[in-house]
Amino acid sequence: MMRLLLFVALFVLGSRALEFELEELSKYIDSHQEEYVQTLREWVAVESDSSDVLKRSDLERMMDMTAEKLKAMGGTVELVDIGVQELGGGKTIPLPKVVTAQFGSDSSKYTVCVYGHVDVQPAKMEDGWATEPYNLTDINGNLYGRGASDNKAPVLAWIHTVEAYQALGIELPVNVKFVIEGMEETGSNGLDAMIVSKNDTFFADVDYIVISDCGWLSRRPALTYGTRGNCYFFAEVEGPKQDLHSGVYGGTVIEPMTDLIGILDTLISPSGKILIPGIRDAVAPLSDEEWRLYQDVEFDVENYKAKIGVSRLMYSSKVDLLAHRWRYPTVSIHGIEGAFSAPGSKTVIPAKVIAKFSIRQVPNMDPATVEKQVTDYLHTVFGRRKSPNKLKVTMIIGAKPWLADTQHPLYKAGREAVKKVFKVDPDMIREGGTIPIAKTFQDVTRKSIIMLPIGGFDDGLHSQNEKMSRYNYIEGTKLFVSYLHEVGQIKRD
Ligand SMILES: *[C@@H]1O[C@H](CO)[C@@H](O)[C@H](O)[C@H]1NC(C)=O
Ligand SMILES: *[C@@H]1O[C@H](CO)[C@@H](O)[C@H](O)[C@H]1NC(C)=O
Ligand SMILES: [Zn+2]
Repeated sequence: MMRLLLFVALFVLGSRALEFELEELSKYIDSHQEEYVQTLREWVAVESDSSDVLKRSDLERMMDMTAEKLKAMGGTVELVDIGVQELGGGKTIPLPKVVTAQFGSDSSKYTVCVYGHVDVQPAKMEDGWATEPYNLTDINGNLYGRGASDNKAPVLAWIHTVEAYQALGIELPVNVKFVIEGMEETGSNGLDAMIVSKNDTFFADVDYIVISDCGWLSRRPALTYGTRGNCYFFAEVEGPKQDLHSGVYGGTVIEPMTDLIGILDTLISPSGKILIPGIRDAVAPLSDEEWRLYQDVEFDVENYKAKIGVSRLMYSSKVDLLAHRWRYPTVSIHGIEGAFSAPGSKTVIPAKVIAKFSIRQVPNMDPATVEKQVTDYLHTVFGRRKSPNKLKVTMIIGAKPWLADTQHPLYKAGREAVKKVFKVDPDMIREGGTIPIAKTFQDVTRKSIIMLPIGGFDDGLHSQNEKMSRYNYIEGTKLFVSYLHEVGQIKRD
């Protein structure tokens, strides 16, 4: 009995001490928010646009600044060479180095590895920004600037998390590692190979990987547990040996464009049903539990319609819309090359046209199977046209979907942390888009992964007037602090 009482007393004291520490950390973050905004301003000022090779020195400077910051905090930092980027014509340019860092190596603790990126999408005032994109501007508590939300503020929030613990002399509840890259916006060139090469060293003692490179769905905080993959196709129809005048040859030749549009129209029905045989068979059925989960998610259909400017969507109910955005495949047709898209009325019959379309991937679809299904199907439909033209179908990207177990301790820790900081339960959401790095981390390292976003739903990633709100930035930092606490308490099995 005495022992039990003592145990209870120690437990209560222990959790009091934890609560006290969290409060101290939270106060520290509040009182340092101006510094945090200033650092974000300095980071946003660097035009680390990875799509423009002329900006490569800025991007390199950004990687150096990141490494310097982590070094100044006493981390074990490495700038990892990941090789070169091919520029065509035999020319190459070095890829920006990947920054890795480590804080703590206590083998009795878990090791959490944070992934982020500090490169950005292009941005110019002429694109329609209201403020200079690389001059962080605070308007009514929103910090406008390219890369603010994607992904500089979240990376800084993680760095400030470690810094806050250090400043208060509070022991980190877990070892923290960082992997920060500079090529995310152009497809993470070189990163996959780096992860493979460091699997037995840097990643060997990592228990969990956290990615904060996405956003909430509404004003309610969210945990992301899935992303769709993507299979991207080119379908080329080639006919006459050169372009022809439609007045002179029209009516006599079987036109490649007509063939192409004919087969494209057999991919998906007007009501959104994919017509390629076999595709829908692989899709995991919607469970009752999932249905309930979607039902609980905060999502305003009218707002969504207004935001994209349409009068009607493919589905009218929230659950159907979320399900088709997150967990069903779809076909999108992106464009046709060789189609004389220049304005004006050109009377040409293009000799060769190439359609680009993609199919979003969900569990349990397999890109290799999808490739075969699409190729076989298009050749069959094309065959029925009895056209003398030639069809060539190629899949150029085959990115798999990613799905996490929402009952995993990492997600339970996420729910607890959100409840502590925001006093609400998080929305459990998925991304309709593809974040291939999650799948790579999972497939290569075999570690458990969580996506823990702090960006707002209306941050305008990749778009004009991207912003991060002060609220999300500062409360998001508190969320990360709280999250590390929760992870530190996961029971070992
Ligand atoms: C950034 O914008 C502020 C006004 O919001 C202006 O005072 C400042 O000069 C600008 N800085 C740069 C580097 O353009
Ligand atoms: C990477 O290491 C983990 C153990 O940490 C192992 O399970 C996994 O199979 C390794 N991956 C590869 C590609 O060797
Ligand atoms: Zn990003």
